[in-house]
Formats: sequence, C-alpha cells, structure tokens
Amino acid sequence: MSKNTFTFINNRTGKKYDFDILDATRGPSVVDISTFYKKTGMFTFDVGFTSTASCSSEITFIDGEKGELRYRGLTIEELAQNHSYLEVCYMLLNGKLPNADELLGFDLELRHRSFLDEDLKKLIDSFPDRAHPMAILSSGVSALSSFHFEHLDIEDKEENQEMARRIIAKIPTIAAFSFRKSLGIPMIYPDIDRSFTENFLYMLRAYPGGKMKRTKEGSREIRDIEIKALDTIFTLHADHEQNASTTTVRNVASTGAHPYAAISSGISALWGRAHGGANESVIAQLEMIGEVKNVDKFIEKAKDPNDNFRLMGFGHRVYKNFDPRAKVLKSLQDQLKDELNLDSKLMEIATKIEEIALKDEYFISRNLYPNIDFYSGVILTALRIDRPMFTPIFVIGRTVGWITQLMELQGSKEFKIARPRQLYIGK
Ligand code: CMC
Repeated sequence: MSKNTFTFINNRTGKKYDFDILDATRGPSVVDISTFYKKTGMFTFDVGFTSTASCSSEITFIDGEKGELRYRGLTIEELAQNHSYLEVCYMLLNGKLPNADELLGFDLELRHRSFLDEDLKKLIDSFPDRAHPMAILSSGVSALSSFHFEHLDIEDKEENQEMARRIIAKIPTIAAFSFRKSLGIPMIYPDIDRSFTENFLYMLRAYPGGKMKRTKEGSREIRDIEIKALDTIFTLHADHEQNASTTTVRNVASTGAHPYAAISSGISALWGRAHGGANESVIAQLEMIGEVKNVDKFIEKAKDPNDNFRLMGFGHRVYKNFDPRAKVLKSLQDQLKDELNLDSKLMEIATKIEEIALKDEYFISRNLYPNIDFYSGVILTALRIDRPMFTPIFVIGRTVGWITQLMELQGSKEFKIARPRQLYIGK
C-alpha cells in the first residue's frame, strides 16, 4: 500500500480498496473517490457536502481554522486595503493584478458596457411595483441570455472573457433598475463619467434627469468615503470558493446551459437567509430586538434547541474562527462611525450581541463567530441603502467570482455534468 493511497475496508466482506490521495497546494488533501461506486458497488453519503470537494480550483483559498481568505494567493486584507474592486475583478478574471494601462482599458470597457438593451428595461418595467429586487434581478439576468445568446462557444477564450466583462458591467444597472422598479420610481441610466462603484450609488440615488440632491452643507452628492466603503464591500464579496451559490452556478453550467442562466441560478441560491440573504435579515433582527435590554432574551432563544430562531450574521460552514471579511468590515465600521453617522442604536444592540456571544459557551463550543453579514448591514444602512438592496449588493460583488468559477469549470478536465446519487429509502 502506497502512502499516497487511502484504504477502505468493507467490514461486511473483508475486501480492501485503495483510493488515491491528491494533495492540495494549501489546505487539506482529498481522497479521490470517483471510482468508488465502480470498485465497491456503494455510494458515499454526505448531506450538505460537509466533507466533499466538488472540484479542484486555482481561484480562492480559505483556511477556516485560521480565518484566512485569499484570492489568487493574495490575502483579503491586502486586497481590501490597497486595491480597488475593479483591480480585484481584473485579477480574478486574468490571474494577475492589472498594470495602469490594463486597468484603464478594463474600466472604460465596463463603463461602455453598463447600458442595458431598452427591451430588457421594458421587461424590468413590467414587474409589479414592490417586487423584491432579488426576484427582478435574477429574472433580468436570465433574460440577458436572450439578448446575448452567442456565448455558447466555450472553446473561444476571448469570447468567454467578453461575456464575463459584459455581465460584470451590466449587473449594477440591472440591480439599480430592479430597486427603482420596486419603489415604482423612474429608472436612471448609467453615467459614463462615473466609476463603477460611484455609478451604482448614482443610479440608486439620482432624480430623473440625473440631478442629485445636495446636502444642507452643500457637500458633494456622493462622498468619496461612501464610494470607498461600498467598493470595499464589493471586494470582500468577490469570491468565496465553493459556497452554495457558486456550486449552483457550476452545476447549472455543467449541463451546458447559457452562462447568464447559470448566474441567474446563482442569484436565486444566494437569496436565502442561510446564505446572502442573511445581510437583510441581520438588520431586520436588530430592529426586532429593538433595545439593548432585550438582547439576553434573544440570545437565550438562539440557544434553545426547541426554538428554530438563529442569530443572523453568526456562524459559518467553513470558518471556525472569526470570518476575515467580518474583521475588515468591523474596522471599516469603526472608521466610518463618526463620518457617516452610523445608526448608534443598531450598533449598540449589535455590539452587545457580539460581546455576549463571544463569551458564551454555546457559541464558543460551536465555533459561532460573527460573519461578514453581521457588519455589512450597519454600513449599508449608513450609506442610505434600503434593506432589500443588501443582497443585490452581495450579488454585484459576487458576479465576478461566479463567472470566473464558471469559466474555470468550462476550461477544465473536470467539465462533466453534475449528477449526484442518493440513498433510496422509499417503497
Ligand atoms: N445561531 C444559533 N445557533 C446556530 C447558528 C446561529 N446563527 N448557526 C449555527 N448554530 C448552531 C446550530 O443550531 C447547530 O447546533 P447543534 O449542534 O446544537 O444542533 C450548530 O450551531 C451547527 O449548525 P449547522 O446549521 O449544522 O451549521 P452549518 O454549517 O450547516 O450552517 C450557517 C452554517 C451559516 C447556515 C449557520 O451558521 C446559520 O444559519 N447562520 C445564520 C445565517 C447567516 O448568518 N448566514 C450567513 C453566512 S456568511 C455569508 C455567506 O458566505 O453566505
């Protein structure tokens, strides 16, 4: 038996089977069980994929024990502090950070591609007012595949990259249109003179004709500090290896479906409150708690095994330590406290929850730490972003991750239809 194999012994029959161990460049090795059924006549069983690697990938690395996250080898702290979201997008797509010329070209192209076909706008217009922006966003992205149906030639690398840049450029516009539609107010077209992140805030905030409200003090309509904060939020969400929505995107793409249809499925998967929808739920929960004096009662509810109440923004499948993205946001929150007038009541409640949970045996023994969503809501509220837009903001940040992962799958030897098996327990 070689050191590079894992031996499985079936105690019912006494038979032994060897499986290859594949080493990662970082993180745990894996046992290659792709021949398991063929050799043993049995399937493996892993509900929720807690022990299953579904693919190999060069894009993002997470060390959940240490609380470490890297895109293309660079730490999230370094990227959030020293690079813009567009640089991060370029790096995820191309494997390296852009030089000044490359960044300029990328930026200009995204600005030019940010407009939507008028017929797509009409489609968004036909949704009922008060529809949740996530519903409109996922439908809008699926519909985008009917306007750009040429991107099915997965062999054509340049065409694929163009398909990726197009969706990254258009998603903020679809998201902003979805928001304005949900309020029943006129849509605002992108402004080509504004950067990616500033333009998104502009499309949310402007009045018809592109006019912006000025503050009493006459300060600029969109402050640099707001652009920087939102840009950092986009960077922190850009990719997160094989999470539920990315796995959904890969699964749908594995059938050969249109890339934008796969991204639309990822948006739907992200919507749930166990995943990206948690950021909206955190603020709803803080508001429901209402007063610092009520925090203890809700902590007890979260610990009660007979109550399905969970503390939103706590816990993570992979991080068994502080979520590194949450750490970056916590320090951003401290920097913004005075400048952006963060809602002090919500922050007081959040701080109290954090204080109690970090010392409580229930949370310690289950490794339940605050995650990214615990902090993003307070910052987004300070950016005057309405709660239903929190998850669409996660979508904007994550689109580059989804499309990069999709292209990686298409270009890899592992490109085959995802088709798990089951343990049948019916009649
Ligand atoms: N509040 C109270 N108890 C919790 C929580 C929580 N937020 N999260 C997990 N637990 C308990 C859970 O009840 C279980 O206890 P026991 O062993 O006694 O049955 C134990 O911790 C393990 O929980 P699990 O559900 O088996 O863990 P999971 O890895 O399947 O779920 C999670 C991970 C993120 C879905 C879960 O922690 C959760 O629901 N958190 C709240 C929602 C949330 O904040 N989601 C955002 C995740 S970060 C953004 C992203 O990347 O998507």
